[in-house]
Amino acid sequence: MDNQPINIAIMVSGHGRGSNMQAIIDACGEGRITGRVAVVIGVKDDAPAMERARSQGIATAEIRPKAFDSDEAYGAAILDVLTEHQVDLICLAGYMRILPASICSTYKHRVMNIHPALIPLFCGKGMYGEHVHQAAVDYGVKVSGCTVHFVDEQYDTGPIILQRTVPVEEGDTAETLAARVLVQEHIAYPQAVQLFAQGRLKVEGRVVHILPADM
Ligand code: GRF
Repeated sequence: MDNQPINIAIMVSGHGRGSNMQAIIDACGEGRITGRVAVVIGVKDDAPAMERARSQGIATAEIRPKAFDSDEAYGAAILDVLTEHQVDLICLAGYMRILPASICSTYKHRVMNIHPALIPLFCGKGMYGEHVHQAAVDYGVKVSGCTVHFVDEQYDTGPIILQRTVPVEEGDTAETLAARVLVQEHIAYPQAVQLFAQGRLKVEGRVVHILPADM
């Protein structure tokens, strides 16, 4: 098995606090991911996640979608940064947009996202942040969780890599449920990235098979 460390790009939003980013950075530092975070790409240079990355000596790149007159041009600018840093895997961590089509095709099955619910529940357009957990509480589900999945050109529809569950408890609010799910996100995302780094994710149709570890 090829044990070359992978180069990871993390993409964050304008308000991204960066806790999943940090979980991935920590896992790289502790050897739980065979790889390194080569660059953090954000839509706003002063996003908390971008500042957090820089304070740890990680390169950041601000690429503002609004600065481009087409999705193609925005995608090309992202691709330039990915190429410069020889990126193997892109991890969306609070990135709130649909990725440009050129990134989805060039990086097919090499872009992951984490969603704070058990897809296909409470996902899709408009289902982000507190809305997700409020919807789960309002529906009355007894279990929620998080999903790491490959990214395609729609919201939250790509093949599922890992899911972790939490109970929804009596008296839960969106906030208390979000906090319980977030703990699991920080476990699931690094695990999924390491499975990728080990070459253990095989996609067939919309099913992701997890291959056994090398003996
Ligand atoms: C997480 O809840 C993640 O599931 C969702 O966006 C949030 C990002 O949080 N996609 P953070 O910036 O990683 O703390």
